[in-house]
Amino acid sequence: MRKKIFIIGLGGLTGSKLAIMAQNDYEVFGSYNLRNPEFTFVKSVKLDISNVPELQKALSEIHPDILINASGINSVDYCESHQDEARRIHIDAVKCISEIADSLGAKFVHLSSDSVFDGMKDAPYTEKDRPNPINFYGHTKLAGEKIVLKNSKNLVVRASVLYGWLLKQLSNLPSSSMKPSNFGQWLITKLISGEKVKIIADEYDSPIIADDFARSILHLVKNNQAGVFHSAPPIRITRYDFSIKLAHILGLNSGLIQPVSNKELGRIITTGFNKCLDSNKIKRTGFKFLSLEESLNLLKKQVFST
Ligand SMILES: NC(=O)c1ccc[n+]([C@@H]2O[C@H](COP(=O)([O-])OP(=O)(O)OC[C@H]3O[C@@H](n4cnc5c(N)ncnc54)[C@H](OP(=O)(O)O)[C@@H]3O)[C@@H](O)[C@H]2O)c1
Repeated sequence: MRKKIFIIGLGGLTGSKLAIMAQNDYEVFGSYNLRNPEFTFVKSVKLDISNVPELQKALSEIHPDILINASGINSVDYCESHQDEARRIHIDAVKCISEIADSLGAKFVHLSSDSVFDGMKDAPYTEKDRPNPINFYGHTKLAGEKIVLKNSKNLVVRASVLYGWLLKQLSNLPSSSMKPSNFGQWLITKLISGEKVKIIADEYDSPIIADDFARSILHLVKNNQAGVFHSAPPIRITRYDFSIKLAHILGLNSGLIQPVSNKELGRIITTGFNKCLDSNKIKRTGFKFLSLEESLNLLKKQVFST
């Protein structure tokens, strides 16, 4: 009999890719809050994760073997100004999900972020580096990680910047993530409509396409891994250079992209300048990341086939 996997955040960028990839190996269940992908192959339920009785009812009825939390409020700025809400979703709900997973004997897989680090290190962060969040989003994500890791069979997977192309049925729908469009999708939409964009050129990331992030999560689950893993290709690139590369590969007008510094944008720096993650630990489990070129060619296919 196939194992049951339950994905919270089915309509999110990562959640939707996870559901599609998991369908061959698992019986897939999941929840959405505002954005329903209406997958025919997933038994889904509408669920606000801050509603404890609803959460308890849905998970107890399904009794999943694996529970993946792909939900979150993924806007650093929004979390800074809506701290109670960020705390409710990233800490209180995670504690509740974790307790339910424990009581059902399910493995809990939680997704996290480079924002648990201060961004001041001059090399990619490894899983052994000490977290030191400098914004409220990072504080809540770290608190969530600590709750999940109390059970030694659970798994936390951190990413740096995520990009990807949302399924057609999901784009333009409101989402409780407070960030309905990811960086890649936002950039492509601007370039296609001929708008000039200013992109940060003094901050380094290890961007990962959501498809590869989802594939890495399922690889870790399949190999029964636990603890903290970084999922980020071995790339160190600024958002500006990434954007130029994306424009070239997708055949879009790179002349519309202007470099800008955090200071010039008047941005209140709530993250450091190095958001790169070291991924040697996951590579040692046999996982191979797509190269940046392969990822951008995959993105190109997705953009122009919708
Ligand atoms: N985006 C990034 O650049 C990035 C970078 C590093 C790590 N991560 C981590 O990766 C994970 C997935 O990110 P993503 O970008 O794929 O997510 P996303 O596309 O922003 O989607 C977030 C999901 O969270 C759900 N959600 C938010 N509040 C909810 C609530 N109260 N009840 C139920 N569901 C709720 C949303 O549901 P509805 O849409 O149905 O409302 C949505 O499906 C997150 O944990 C994030 O911290 C993201």
